[in-house]
Amino acid sequence: MAEIKRVGIVGCGLMGHGIAQVVATAGYDVTVREVDDATLAKGLGKIEKQLARAVEKGKSSQEDADAIRGRLTGTTDYADLADCDLVLEAITEDLALKLELWKELDQVVKPEALFLTNTSSLAVIDQAASTSRPASFAGLHFFNPAQVMKLVEVVRGITTSDETFDAALAFANTLGGKTPIPTKDKAGFIVNRLLVPYMVDAIRAYEEGVGTISEIDAAMKAGAGHPMGPLALCDLVGNDTVGAIAEVLFTEFRSGRFAQPPLLRKMLAAGWYGRKSGIGFYDYSGETPVENPGLAR
Ligand code: 3HC
Repeated sequence: MAEIKRVGIVGCGLMGHGIAQVVATAGYDVTVREVDDATLAKGLGKIEKQLARAVEKGKSSQEDADAIRGRLTGTTDYADLADCDLVLEAITEDLALKLELWKELDQVVKPEALFLTNTSSLAVIDQAASTSRPASFAGLHFFNPAQVMKLVEVVRGITTSDETFDAALAFANTLGGKTPIPTKDKAGFIVNRLLVPYMVDAIRAYEEGVGTISEIDAAMKAGAGHPMGPLALCDLVGNDTVGAIAEVLFTEFRSGRFAQPPLLRKMLAAGWYGRKSGIGFYDYSGETPVENPGLAR
């Protein structure tokens, strides 16, 4: 397998921008693709903000921050990923959209390139099998915020060659102190298989009146040592993403543990996706988040 120098990231949203920053910080040349100029500018703007904050806090020199930014190129054109040695997708958790994307990439990206998906729950094989290179396809799953969370799940699909898996693992090991953990291609892999039922159960507990939003969150922080409570975590991950993962796990395992609670469905209908939409379990429009008053209705 060729040495990895140029990396393509598809998607510069919640996960994609963080992954692009991590990969550029590790010294790779990164081309990040978004659907339009405005979305791309928003994602790159988030990276610039993080880099400026690191300089302000004295965690990075201006020179290093400029070098990282200099290694990042934005595009809206798949053809600009043609020469990448590795392409990782980090778009919405929607199989149809991902399959469309791989169809485009398969035609333009050089045949020896590695294809990786950041899917949080969808089977790697379904995406791999849609390309002409299923042996060169694996999963590389980052956690939110990608700049901070250490874990990267490295997923071996049933068609993934040893060479591809080893290359994906080796790549993850170069990403500034990340902890890569191998896992099989089972829906939700390790973390979401365990974390998503916990998150949807927290929503059910709230629905049943076990506690208020803040009480449930404060209890899990103070009682179980979690860095944030489950409902704040839903807002961080995105309630739409939590719902999408829960749906995939429910369909795959046919177990009620993964079923979307009715409240989550209503919140998604209202567009209350969490931090990304400014409102979820909490309302983020003020100086400090407050419980979403709509949920008491
Ligand atoms: N982007 C980049 N950096 C961020 C960030 C973000 N969105 N949020 C926080 N950080 C950085 C801060 O800049 C700060 O950096 P510094 O130490 O260099 O100054 C550091 O993280 C700590 O941040 P804060 O002091 O603001 O706040 P906390 O100490 O409370 O940490 C947190 C924030 C890291 C988000 C912490 O609360 C946490 O670990 N929460 C749990 C997150 C989690 O469980 N993530 C996994 C979700 S599941 C998932 O992603 C899977 C997917 O498939 C759904």
